[in-house]
Amino acid sequence: MSDKSHNELPIGVFDSGVGGLTVLKAIRETLPNENLVYLGDTARLPYGTKSPASIERYATQAAERLQQEGIKLLVVACNTASAVALGALRAALDPLPVVGVVEPGATAAVEARPGGRHLVLATEATVGLHAYRDAIAGRDAGAEVREKACEMLVALAEEGWSDGEIARAIVRRYLCEAGGARTDTIILGCTHFPLLIDTIRAVAAADAVLIDSASTTAGFVAAALETDGARRSGRSPGTLRLLATDGVTRFARVGGRFLGHGMSDRDVELIDL
Ligand code: DGL
Repeated sequence: MSDKSHNELPIGVFDSGVGGLTVLKAIRETLPNENLVYLGDTARLPYGTKSPASIERYATQAAERLQQEGIKLLVVACNTASAVALGALRAALDPLPVVGVVEPGATAAVEARPGGRHLVLATEATVGLHAYRDAIAGRDAGAEVREKACEMLVALAEEGWSDGEIARAIVRRYLCEAGGARTDTIILGCTHFPLLIDTIRAVAAADAVLIDSASTTAGFVAAALETDGARRSGRSPGTLRLLATDGVTRFARVGGRFLGHGMSDRDVELIDL
């Protein structure tokens, strides 16, 4: 049932840091009049090398903080938190709808190449739990999945070294260690990797489809709001609040690259969880 004041509430978007801004950007493009609040848990970044127990605890605290702000839907815009904690978050926040990024990414890969060979590039935690492998197997029994943890790519994206010789050499080594560049799709299973898409494309086999789950996730969010009758009405552009648990200056500097436009540290609120 549609309720106007409920529909005015923002969509909460959460990531371990600035990487989820790639998902936020896609949501803004798909749903330009929705209000948004983004929380980057920069104090505890990276999640990808932490234990599942710590990741679940951090993700739950961040998600509950957004719930307290008043949101109508939560997007877990972090592959690692989606892989480890989606079920726990859904249970903790019930009845709030929660959308993760792994299911949309797996769906996009299977739709792009049914029965195909997929290579997942992700963090150690996401690979350790085989989150994409299982999500793809659930959708396409004929699919083949290889997974490769690529922690160095997170650092490259943060540093702004997403192209050039060093980035290409590192991507080449990861693809080689994953069994070679021949694959039908390469799934960018980490929020940071869309920044390296041109470098990955240059190194990968020419016919490999690169899967970035951001736009598919935005589609899942739109569908969930539609199902709940929770779309904000009117045409006025939605608002955006940015929250970070540490380093607002760095958040603004690095985050601008992920969001696609510059921001200043005055645009980011420092919070404690
Ligand atoms: N946001 C994380 C992900 O998508 C990458 C950064 C981290 O390890 O926290 O997996």
